[in-house]
Amino acid sequence: MSIVEAQLRSPVALPPSIRVRLAGARDCDELCSLLDNPAYAREQVMAWMTDPATTLLVAQSEIGVLGVAVLMTRVVARPEGGIRKIVEVDNLVVRADQRGRRIGRRLLAAAVEWSRQRRAVQVEAFVGEVDRDARRFYESFGFARSSDRLVLAA
Ligand SMILES: CC(C)(COP(=O)(O)OP(=O)(O)OC[C@H]1O[C@@H](n2cnc3c(N)ncnc32)[C@H](O)[C@@H]1OP(=O)(O)O)[C@@H](O)C(=O)NCCC(=O)NCCS
Repeated sequence: MSIVEAQLRSPVALPPSIRVRLAGARDCDELCSLLDNPAYAREQVMAWMTDPATTLLVAQSEIGVLGVAVLMTRVVARPEGGIRKIVEVDNLVVRADQRGRRIGRRLLAAAVEWSRQRRAVQVEAFVGEVDRDARRFYESFGFARSSDRLVLAA
């Protein structure tokens, strides 16, 4: 199921001590600790970091990394010619003890701004039917359902 960014709102102000920046190799351990499955976390983080089409934005405060947005950029041919750039939010995770403080929203706003600066025409997120919390999170930001995607297990 695809949710396509439809409308943007200004992010809610956060304490100035929280900022969003690009992740680097030094963030690897903290990024691993954000993920659910420790057995695969390092492999996953390394795959993201070495993929040229993937960008990691992290929310940082004085206590460390509070969340991450994993952005994947793809270039798609337009039927009428030319190309368009689409950014997919492949994963967005906030540290469990920091949820509900608008950190996720701040990361999402930064992801959309990052996409606009790179002239992407669309930001997408894929959310499972049963994942109602994640769906509400994206919808509360302005994302809307889109049903133009067909998929097949490979
Ligand atoms: C989903 C997630 C990223 C939200 O991060 P967060 O920092 O807690 O969310 P925010 O405080 O920025 O919430 C922004 C809005 O999203 C909605 N929202 C956030 N968490 C929600 C939840 N658990 N249930 C329903 N709505 C939720 C609310 O509308 C909220 O607005 P409000 O504060 O005015 O009520 C976080 O709960 C998380 O890391 N979950 C596990 C991973 C995941 O499911 N990621 C999303 C799919 S990739």
